[in-house]
Amino acid sequence: MKVEKLQVTNFRNLEDQIISFSAGINCILGENGNGKTNILEALYVLATKKSFRKNAGFPQYLGMDGEKQEILFNSVFRSEEDKQISLSGKMNEDASSFYMNGKPIKRINNIKMVFINPFDSYSFHNTPGFRRTWFNQYISMLSCNYKKTLTKYNTALRFRNNLLSKRPPHYRDQVNAIDREIAKHSVIIINERLRFLDDIHSYCGDIFKEIFSEKHDLKISLESKFLNLNENEIFDALQEGLARDILIGRTTCGVHKDDYILLFDGLNSYDYCSLGQQKMSFLSLLFAYIKLFRYKFNSYPIVLIDDVSGELDKYRWRNLVSYLEKSNFQVLITTANEKFKEELDRLEDATRIFISSGSITQ
Ligand SMILES: Nc1ncnc2c1ncn2[C@@H]1O[C@H](COP(=O)(O)OP(=O)(O)OP(=O)(O)O)[C@@H](O)[C@H]1O
Ligand SMILES: [Mg+2]
Repeated sequence: MKVEKLQVTNFRNLEDQIISFSAGINCILGENGNGKTNILEALYVLATKKSFRKNAGFPQYLGMDGEKQEILFNSVFRSEEDKQISLSGKMNEDASSFYMNGKPIKRINNIKMVFINPFDSYSFHNTPGFRRTWFNQYISMLSCNYKKTLTKYNTALRFRNNLLSKRPPHYRDQVNAIDREIAKHSVIIINERLRFLDDIHSYCGDIFKEIFSEKHDLKISLESKFLNLNENEIFDALQEGLARDILIGRTTCGVHKDDYILLFDGLNSYDYCSLGQQKMSFLSLLFAYIKLFRYKFNSYPIVLIDDVSGELDKYRWRNLVSYLEKSNFQVLITTANEKFKEELDRLEDATRIFISSGSITQ
């Protein structure tokens, strides 16, 4: 699916205008604080019902100057089969409703997006919680089985934690029963994670070389206490930790604590890489993901890139822009950086969208 048009009413500082996008590269340009990221966010919220910004929800999205406490979305997408699809939505404090071609829909499953922003590389390298969420989100986009199992695992985990903190009568029996379920889900989750890493490894190094003209081995290793354990062994491990869990009042061990290490030529990129190298590795991982996505579904996600120019030198910018130019996916890329804009200006076929105070000016 590619986005052709987007119109939002009462979304942050954006004016109620129709924004048109081309199927290739769309450069969203304007000075700081004028609404470039808001355009990406509006599209992302429409497609996924959530923001890529931390702790952002309806109260934050709602335009400050709007008269009605309601946000409206109107958009047109084009499918792989070249069919036009209209997607609209309404959002207020209590509820949101979405319509595809005029018919109400519960959730939008077929619009996939990859969002790339300048801070994610830093968070990815520094925060285990961010890495876990990142991998969960991206593996879920490729595997329904992973998404479903993860939901079941989280529900079981919440139930277990509740038992551990409240300790109702006979809670031990209930913990035993739930541990059987958790063990079953854990095996599936670990296998799906390993399969994903195996799949993405085949693209990472090549992408790094293609975009950044350097050959490096890029791999991700999964750090899990339950690696190579079968269902019964995981059950035993959960039970072994039970005395400690009861004392603390929550589950201290499990696949929800798994972590990932990005290995740059076999070394932990967090310890070893410069900020620029960390960013190049992170970007390579994302573009490798886009390739993997294409391999699995025979189509591309929409790629939203929010000013990635920081830390990369001019030479890398040029390669990145040429890579985007050669690619077949739809890109919405923003920048306020005049020098990076000069690189983007070299793209002959790109669409340019200028925004000032929330209003599209050209
Ligand atoms: N709920 C809201 N209602 C109205 N305006 C808002 C709301 N939330 C944020 N804004 C405004 O939106 C603007 C920020 O928009 P955005 O983050 O898209 O800027 P940007 O063009 O991406 O800037 P930068 O280049 O600095 O990243 C700010 O001027 C901010 O005051
Ligand atoms: Mg921005």
